[in-house]
Parts: sequence; structure tokens; C-alpha cells
Amino acid sequence: MKRPALAERLATLAAERRAAGLERRRIEIEGREGASVRLYGRELVNFAGNDYLGLAQHLDVIAAMQEAAAVHGVGSGSADLICGHYKEHTALEREVADWLGAPRALLFGSGYLANLGVLQALLHEGAVCVQDKLNHACLLDGAQLSRCELKRYPHLDVEGAMRQLQTRPEAPAMLATDGVFSMDGDLAPLKELALLARAENATLYVDDAHGIGVMGPGGRGSVAHAGLSYREVPLQLVTLGKALGGYGALVVGREDLIEAVLQAARTYLFTTALPPSIAAAARASLRLAQKEAWRRFKLVGLVSRFRRGAQQLGLPLMESDTPIQPLLLGDSKRAVAVAATLRTHGLLVGAIRPPTVPEGRARLRISISALHSEAQIDQLLDELEKACKAAAPTSDIQA
Ligand SMILES: Cc1ncc(COP(=O)(O)O)c(C=O)c1O
Repeated sequence: MKRPALAERLATLAAERRAAGLERRRIEIEGREGASVRLYGRELVNFAGNDYLGLAQHLDVIAAMQEAAAVHGVGSGSADLICGHYKEHTALEREVADWLGAPRALLFGSGYLANLGVLQALLHEGAVCVQDKLNHACLLDGAQLSRCELKRYPHLDVEGAMRQLQTRPEAPAMLATDGVFSMDGDLAPLKELALLARAENATLYVDDAHGIGVMGPGGRGSVAHAGLSYREVPLQLVTLGKALGGYGALVVGREDLIEAVLQAARTYLFTTALPPSIAAAARASLRLAQKEAWRRFKLVGLVSRFRRGAQQLGLPLMESDTPIQPLLLGDSKRAVAVAATLRTHGLLVGAIRPPTVPEGRARLRISISALHSEAQIDQLLDELEKACKAAAPTSDIQA
């Protein structure tokens, strides 16, 4: 029998994706200023990014990056454990650990790499990893990479998590959850999960990609917001690419666990270290996030303005008090149509479809930044009302 060509299968998959309205296209940003981006010669207000505090273009952050690049060059030139680890990396790790009141932090190339590395390094065949069903893809991928048994529980369901842990009482266990869910904007029940982890002797890992900088006292994230520390949450992921406006991520927590990650995470050992200039930029962002509390206050005001307006208009809001404000539209094609209409009216909003979200749960993922003005929020509400009405609803929203 003739071996089937990979390309044939790929062509079939591509056709299926197109037919289902699931094909993805990149857009090309030509420039940005404040909350606006220039796209194919037009200015659009950006409600699709994660620069929640508006730090990505801050002059202090840019200057820190330029100065460090002038001293150290652009690339780090090697893996951290060979000769790619600079004093900027160490300083950032120390500052983030101190900020969160944890013993130690370890800097990775990105949040995705960190989650793969943490789970692969700490888990193994025979161990179990219990995760919320809506956790970010990289937590799920990390569990698969580690070859442990992955067990998922219904979204936010602490009893479900308990049942899953109790199916394997003999196995070393990790309980892993997003702190703020990236496509829903809601919060994990961290206090209850911390109690469960203690009762079940499981290690609790919280991915706080979307909570850090935004929530909790001084912007210390969802773990601090729940009144917890590294004592209850021995490992936490802090990403630099969202509220902190940069790139990279740190795993923060207990000394022994961080050391185990450093020794064994393949995505730490076998990859080039983050450029030291990126670490320097993150240090500047961190100082601003700590010093300029007005950014968080402004965000809270804009989020409640948006929610009030959307409720009055009867828009399909989801339960979220964070800057991630999804509108559940259900059908992928409808989500794409509404996003396209918004774009013609100068607003950039992401249409999120399966497999990023479950089948029948396509949505607009509106994200609010401290850079937005009240007038821009009002304009968004106005255009959303018209665009949602114009794109006929379908009945396939799954509760
Ligand atoms: C919850 C969550 N975890 C991890 C990541 C990955 O982080 P990074 O973008 O730094 O790779 C993301 C990013 O989309 C995320 O939303």
C-alpha cells in the first residue's frame, strides 16, 4: 500500500477548518500609540490586547530596554545554565520574588515555556495532575509532556477537583488552575482550592498570567487577592507579556520546588535565555506597576462603566469583574461577523473560536486597558449594540 502523503491530510483539515469558519488569519500592526493601533493605514482602538496597565510603550520601560541592550547587546547568546544568565535576570527574579513575598523566582522565556517546564519537571509517570477544564492550553500540554495522568474537573468546581484527586490517593499530585481565566475573565476559587490542596497533600500551582499587576493588593495578583501566599500556593506563574507590557514569565514560590524546576525543566535547560534587555524592561515595568496605582483604579472604573452599559443594552455579558470582558455569541461565524463590523467602525476586538473555547461558545473577547478613555468605552458600547443586532443570533449557545 502506498503511504498517504502528509500534505493530503493537511489539505483536508484546512478545507474542514475553512468550512467551519475556524480558519485563522494574522493581522499586521503597522504602529501603535496609546490605546490605538494602525492597521492597513487605519487607526483602530485596540480592545484585543492584554496590555492592561498600558506599560508596553512607557518611556521608562523603553529606555531601560535600550540602555541594557547598549551594555549587554541584543541576544543573551546562550542558555541560562551555560553563559546566558545576566545580572538583569537575577535582579528581576529577586525583585519579583520579594514583591510577592516568596523565597524565590525563576525566569523563563515565556509563560508557555514555563508551564511546560514546571509540569514536566515536577510531575512524572505515576503522578496525577488535576486541572480546571478551562485552564490555558499550556497547562494541559505541560501535563501531557510530563506523562502524568491528567484529570480535569468542571470549571470552578472544587468538589469536582476533590473527586478527581481522590481517585488516586496513592499518587503524588498537583492541583493546577488559572487564577484569572484567559477567555472568560472569571476567577478561580483559590481559597477553597488551597484548602483542598492542603487536605489532599497536593501541590497547588496557580497560573496568574492575567491576574498579576491587575488584581489584589498592590497588583500582586489573584493569589494575594484571595489572601494567600506561597505557603498555601507554593508555585505561581507570573507572566511579563500582559499587564507588565513586556515578554517572558517567572515561576515564583518555594525554594525546593523552584530549584527542582531549574534542574530539570527542559524548556529552561535547552533554550536560549531571555535577552537581558527584556529583563531590564520588566524591572522598569514592575516599578511602575508598584508605584502607579492609578492605573489599576482607572481600570476598575472603565470595567464597571463597560459592564453597566452592556447590561443596559442587554448584551450577552459573562460573569467577570476583570479587564477581560467576553460577550458570548455562541456561533463562530457570528463572532467573526460582529468583529468584522466593529473593525469597519474603528474598533479592534478579538473573535475567539474553538478550539480556544469550547464548541458553541464562540465569543468576542473584549479587553480593557488603563490606556482607554471613557469616551472609547462608550463608543465600543454603541457599536456593539448595532453590530450584535445586525448579525442575527443563532440558537447554539451552550450554557
Ligand atoms: C492563562 C495563561 N497562561 C499562560 C499563557 C502563556 O503566556 P505567554 O504568552 O507568556 O507564553 C497565557 C497566554 O496567552 C495565558 O493566557
